[in-house]
Amino acid sequence: MRMLDIITKKRDGNALTKEEIDFFVTGYVKSEIPDYQVAALLMAIYFKGLSEPETINLTLAMANSGEKVDLSMIPGIKIDKHSTGGVGDKTTLIVAPIVASLGVFVPKMSGRGLGFTGGTIDKLDSIPNLQTSMPIDAFVDIVKEVGFSDIGQSENLVPADKKIYSLRDVTATVESLPLIASSIMSKKIASGADCILLDVKCGSGAFMNTLDDSIELAKIMVKIGEHFGKKTVALVTNMDSPLGNAIGNSIEIVEACETLKGKGPSDLTELSIELAANMLNLAGKGSLESCKLMAKRAIADGSAFEKLKAMVKAQNGDISCLEDYSKFSKAKFQYHVKAKSSGFINKIDAKLCGEAAKILGAGRQKKDEKIDCSAGIILHKKVGDRIDSGETIATLYSSSLEKQNDAIKVFSNCTLINDNLNQTFPLIYAKVTSAGIEKF
Ligand code: URA
Repeated sequence: MRMLDIITKKRDGNALTKEEIDFFVTGYVKSEIPDYQVAALLMAIYFKGLSEPETINLTLAMANSGEKVDLSMIPGIKIDKHSTGGVGDKTTLIVAPIVASLGVFVPKMSGRGLGFTGGTIDKLDSIPNLQTSMPIDAFVDIVKEVGFSDIGQSENLVPADKKIYSLRDVTATVESLPLIASSIMSKKIASGADCILLDVKCGSGAFMNTLDDSIELAKIMVKIGEHFGKKTVALVTNMDSPLGNAIGNSIEIVEACETLKGKGPSDLTELSIELAANMLNLAGKGSLESCKLMAKRAIADGSAFEKLKAMVKAQNGDISCLEDYSKFSKAKFQYHVKAKSSGFINKIDAKLCGEAAKILGAGRQKKDEKIDCSAGIILHKKVGDRIDSGETIATLYSSSLEKQNDAIKVFSNCTLINDNLNQTFPLIYAKVTSAGIEKF
């Protein structure tokens, strides 16, 4: 079998066999196939797509590329959660501790930043000494003892996604429905949970911009999850403007801690409660309404925040910075972006915010590039707020004046201020299960 023939076949719009998919995934993991040929195939997939059987075969090949986590020695339901990627999306850091604090185990595999979106592993890396790569046994022990652990792909665990993910990030092949579905679901299958809650983002700051495309992505992922015997539910949620106020890495950890202390922004708090309640409901903890109350209580009584600290400690991280935020490294420069007119904020474009944060140093321009944990954006205003001319909309943080100047140019196109407030959209658009689609 030759990689060149596989690339040609997909370029010409033909379906790949299971053997061809296995060949390219295994060959790439063993470094027998070079980056440039896989990049060409990814671009062919981006343009020509994959059928449902091809997507399932790719998911399986990726999940099988390393070891799989066996959680059978942990009693009870284990539940995983994954977002398709957004801007300011730090919900995992809030939702997983809430759910774990209520007695449901959360074995979580997350990713790094992808395209203009952030990644939980990059955010966690801003906590000094915290380990997000460890032997599988250690991961299972933490899940068992603490109730929740969060790690990234590694040489042992879904190595195919580790390599393909970082290649997609720098070859403009992220926004592909089958590549997103197989990337996410391979991790979910390998991490061994019984149930999966997916947060499929929809809007300018997501890889799927329309509701129809987001529902299509949700449907295929639910189908893959159920195909592999996992109870899978997807919520399709709004990502037209950034979630919460912080976009970056350490600043998002701070916002997640504040939310767990009951002082988070309302959109982030509301979505986190919804996601946590859906996870608890999937795990059989009660009706959605009672699960929402339980999630709210776990924030109010401090048990969810204690669970985050326990996970950070178990993964060797410095928990003192979760109480004393001044211990996080600080960006050298700050720039306050001021409103040029007065009125209501009708738009804060999530994608442009994500691009600006990446330019500031919060994301990568090249594979394996080191990111600046302290870089990013704090929004002082949200969509719907009134603002006066000259008031600060956002503060940009960077350690390079050149990057700051480039980011200012991008951020200056982010916001739209009008005399009136136009229509605003809901936080949750739809719920997709194996039984069908419910729109809200
Ligand atoms: N998250 C992933 O793990 N993979 C993607 O492709 C997108 C979001």
